[in-house]
This record gives sequence, structure tokens and C-alpha cells, in this order.
Amino acid sequence: MKETIINTLKKGGNIRENLKLLSENTTGKIVFSTSFGIEDQLITESVFTQDLDNIEVFTLDTGRLFPETYATWDKTLLQYGKKIKTYYPYQDHLETFVEERGINAFYESPELRKECCHIRKVEPLQRALKDADVWITGLRAEHSPNRNSLEIVQWDEQYQLYKYNPLLHWTTEEVKTYVQQNGIPYNVLHDRGFVSIGCAPCTRAIQEGDDFRAGRWWWEETSKKECGLHR
Ligand code: ADX
Ligand code: SF4
Repeated sequence: MKETIINTLKKGGNIRENLKLLSENTTGKIVFSTSFGIEDQLITESVFTQDLDNIEVFTLDTGRLFPETYATWDKTLLQYGKKIKTYYPYQDHLETFVEERGINAFYESPELRKECCHIRKVEPLQRALKDADVWITGLRAEHSPNRNSLEIVQWDEQYQLYKYNPLLHWTTEEVKTYVQQNGIPYNVLHDRGFVSIGCAPCTRAIQEGDDFRAGRWWWEETSKKECGLHR
């Protein structure tokens, strides 16, 4: 990514203009990961309605998503008429894991939880990011204390690409207002206390005043509740 583009993106500013600028000035491969959460929907709208077709929108279907997430996915395809590339876990890894450990092994130990996340999310992500030069995400700092050290644009050593988090400093209110004003389809679970929405067995609604991350892997003690997609 060119230095001038990095500097402009880092300033925040208008998300539509910034995504267009990135799309028009990047020769390498740009990918955007969507979990169909409200932040991701906002980015999707900018990419699809501006026909930024060199940005590949992809999702990781873990097989354990909420029915409401699949409904949001379907609505998004209908509304924008664009393609979303989908990565599934490797069949043989998943079959062996489920056969040996059962279907809900993640409740048994952090190790098994991480193994499930690895098979269902991290390994497919590695395939999705192969050959990519820029990775766009919907990460927001508010979602986790671990994310306060992130930057809007940063070099990712692990994947050897630029990671672009355009909504990093947006507040929940700003995201919701933008989505409402632009008629963007969103996951109805957000209206029922769900903040960040992952797999159904590992995500629950939070109460007023709870930490935003409290709804993810709530049975684990550790404060660093990440699945390995982001470090
Ligand atoms: S996670 O690390 O806890 O699972 P979170 O749900 O906060 O991530 O989402 C942060 C960003 O990670 C999303 O905006 C999206 O870019 C990416 N992401 C998370 N889950 C998925 C998924 N299943 N498919 C594609 N991208 C995802
Ligand atoms: Fe498995 Fe839960 Fe991780 Fe989803 S969030 S991959 S179900 S452990």
C-alpha cells in the first residue's frame, strides 16, 4: 500500500471515500472479512454500492452460526446482488474433531475451545488471506480492551499484509445511526442485547453496563477472550 494512502486512511474521515480511494489505488489483492455483524454490514454497503469489485468480500462459515446471522447473510445477497466468497472448515479435520471430542467440546476446556476455533475459523482464515495485500476488518476498539493498541492501518507480521480497521474508533451509536440512515440490513440479534456476534453456542446477549466482551466465551475466566482471528 502506498505511503500516501496509508496516511490518508489513518486519519479516519469518510469511510466511503476512503474505501474507494483504497480500491482505486491498490494493485494488490484486497479482501474484507465479514461476520455479518453491524460494523461489517456498514463496510459491506460501502463496498457493494460503490461497485468496488476489486475488494473481495469473504466470510468464514463455522457451521455454528446463529439462524439470524444466516438470515442477515441472505438479506445482504438479495439487497446488493453481489457475491460473498465463503470459506468452510476442512471436512476431515472437523469430522475427526467432532467424532473424537463431541459436538460441544468448547465448554470442556480452553484448549478444546481454541482447537475448535482453529479448525472452524483460523485455518479457513489463513486460506482466505493467502496472497492478500490488504485485509479490511470491522474491528472496533470498544469491543475489547485488547484492541486498544490497534491502529486504523497496521502492518500484520503474521499474515504479511496491511490490516485496515476503518471503524476502529467509531462508537456503537455512530455505527447504529449510520446503518439506520442508509437502510443497511443488520442482524436482529443486535436489538436483543448482542454486541459482537460469533458462533451461537459461544455468544450470548450482555446486560446494560457489562463489558462488551462479556457475551463471548463467558464460561472462560481469562480476560483475553479471542479466537485467534485477531492478535
Ligand atoms: S472475533 O475475533 O471475536 O471472532 P469479532 O466477532 O469481534 O471477532 O469480529 C471482528 C472482525 O473479525 C469482524 O469485523 C470481521 O472482520 C472479522 N470476523 C469475525 N468473525 C468472522 C467470520 N466468521 N467471518 C469473517 N470475518 C469474521
Ligand atoms: Fe467453535 Fe465456539 Fe470457536 Fe465457534 S466460537 S469456532 S463454536 S469454539
